[in-house]
Formats: sequence, structure tokens, C-alpha cells
Amino acid sequence: MIQEVGVIGAGTMGFGIAFQFITNGTKVILQDINEQSLNLVEDKLNQYLKIYKEEGFTFKETDKQILNLLTLTTHIEDLSNCDLVIESATESLQLKQQIFKQLDELCNEHTILTSNTSSLKLSDIVKDVDKHRERVMLTHFFNPAHIVPLVELLRAPDTSDEVFKTVKEFMETMKKVTIEVRKEVPGLVANRIQVALAREALSLLEDGVVSEEDLEDAIFAGPGFRFSSSGLLKIMDFGGLDVWAIVLEQLQSKIESEVRAFPSLRNKVSVGNLGVKSSKGYFEYPGKGLDEYVIERDRSLIQQLKTFEKLKGGLTNA
Ligand SMILES: NC(=O)c1ccc[n+]([C@@H]2O[C@H](COP(=O)([O-])OP(=O)(O)OC[C@H]3O[C@@H](n4cnc5c(N)ncnc54)[C@H](O)[C@@H]3O)[C@@H](O)[C@H]2O)c1
Repeated sequence: MIQEVGVIGAGTMGFGIAFQFITNGTKVILQDINEQSLNLVEDKLNQYLKIYKEEGFTFKETDKQILNLLTLTTHIEDLSNCDLVIESATESLQLKQQIFKQLDELCNEHTILTSNTSSLKLSDIVKDVDKHRERVMLTHFFNPAHIVPLVELLRAPDTSDEVFKTVKEFMETMKKVTIEVRKEVPGLVANRIQVALAREALSLLEDGVVSEEDLEDAIFAGPGFRFSSSGLLKIMDFGGLDVWAIVLEQLQSKIESEVRAFPSLRNKVSVGNLGVKSSKGYFEYPGKGLDEYVIERDRSLIQQLKTFEKLKGGLTNA
């Protein structure tokens, strides 16, 4: 049973993972080598507790009790007795290999070790783990990790069934929706789908089929709107599989399948229009800083979470 979790890396993802667990009653030790990252955690935590409540969520524990479930540290050794350690440090293969090797040496035999990597191969990260290879696996969260429900699970070559089951059950107790990725493929499942969508959308933009504003509406008010109530296969079931079979037959060969460059995207990057963080990307974000825009986005995602929980039935953040 998982009672105490170590999280390595107190950045964007590590914060969200820690928040999700402590607000669901689990003790967390959040570790970072950078004290500045740790110094930001308490204010951010209080800010999100307030926002969740303003958006109608309730927590079983008081704010003080929730805060008491969190310990901050710069020492990785403090995680040695945790039941689960989730590595969510900077995306670098060498760094993650070194962290896993160190955790394998210092943690108790029963401690499960997982990585939250987005783009690196799990089998490469755990290559040098030799003491307990059965206890390592991948738990891939989505940003913001305390709001987006999905966690993708992937076994490493030697992960035991028991370890996989324990992690899956724990994530579900923490109000996450898990999926099992059955093969180690780059991008796992959800990011591959997102990249496929981006390829087609950018291709339509590049070819002058649609404006940026209209492309945004096409996705947000069309497929995106339907996706807020179900996944793809149910949409296909409702549309009729005979209909979808014809649509796929007609359109599959016509949509973008090339690996092509998107000069409009590259040009924006080369002049420093990087999106919200530089106040301009495809659209403009004047007057407020990145943090304020992120909070606005998160508020609307938290509202979306309420609808999602109703649809999923019984999944509540309280
Ligand atoms: N940002 C996303 O959208 C996203 C989504 C899913 C998964 N991920 C993955 O999550 C991980 C973290 O991403 P992030 O966006 O939170 O990055 P981030 O840059 O916001 O945070 C990384 C943190 O790791 C800390 N760190 C660096 N080396 C460390 C070490 N040796 N020990 C402890 N802490 C260390 C840094 O000080 C920093 O606070 C990456 O593997 C990334 O691929 C990111």
C-alpha cells in the first residue's frame, strides 16, 4: 500500500503531481536540487487551493492539514523510505539515468520507482538499474498534472505485475484515470494523437485553407467540443461505423502524411514569438504575464474537470 510518495523535481509537473496527492490525503516529500523551485511551492499551493474552492471543489482535509502532508527537501536521501518515488526532473537522459541508479541503491527494497518522462525511452532511463529491475516503470502525467486526469502507464522490460497493479490502483485512488500503454512507442498514446492533429492542422494553415482564428474555432467548437464528452471510438460508434469506414476510405489518402517543415511555425520561433511566454505566438497575449494567463487557463480546465467527473461518475476531487 502506498502511503508516502517522493517526487523528484519541483517544477511545473512535480508541483502538480504533489498537489494531486496531498489534496487526496497522501504524504509527499518533494525534492529538488534547486532551492528556488522549492521556495515557490507553498505560495503556489495556497493559490491553487483557493482557486479549487472558488470553482466549487471541496477537500476532505483543511488547508493546514493538506500543507502538513507536504515536506520539501533538497536531499534525495530523504526519499529512501517512500513507498513510491516519481522522478519528474528536467528532461535529460543522463540525469534521469543517474537519478534511477542512485534511487535503486538508496531506496528500500519495496520502494517503487517511476519516471514522468515525455520524450525519453523508459528502457534507456532504467538501463543501469541492476538491483531491483522489477520495481521500475513509467507514469506519464499531463500538464497541468493536478487537473488533467490522464496518467499513461508503461512497464519497463522487467516490471512485475504486482508493481504495475499497485501503481495503477494508487493512481486511481488519487482520482487519476490510467491507461496501459502496451508497447514502448515514442510519444506513447495521447501525445502521438495530439501530434497527428497538429500535423494536419498546421498543414491546413500552411496551405492557406483556413485562417488562424478559424482553425482555432474549427477545433474548439467542433471535434474539441465533442471530445469533451467522450473519446474517439464512441464518437465513431454514434456516427455509425459504416459511415466512418467510408469517410476514412475517402479522406485518409488526402490528408497530410508527409514529414514536412512548417515555415510559418519556424518563422515565429526564429523571431522570438514563442506563444504566451513571449506575449505573442499565433495570437497576442498582452498586458499580463505568463503566470496570470496560466491561472486563467487552469480555472477553465478546473471547471472542465467538474463536468468530466460527472461524466466519469463518482470521480471527485474531495
Ligand atoms: N511540462 C510538461 O508539459 C510535461 C508533461 C508531461 C511530462 N513532462 C516531463 O516531466 C519532467 C519535468 O518537466 P517539467 O515541465 O516539470 O520541468 P521543469 O523545468 O518545470 O522542472 C524540472 C525541475 O527539475 C529540477 N531538477 C533538475 N535536476 C534535478 C535533480 N538532479 N534532482 C532533483 N531535481 C532536479 C529543476 O530544478 C526543476 O525545478 C520532464 O521529464 C518532462 O519531460 C513534462
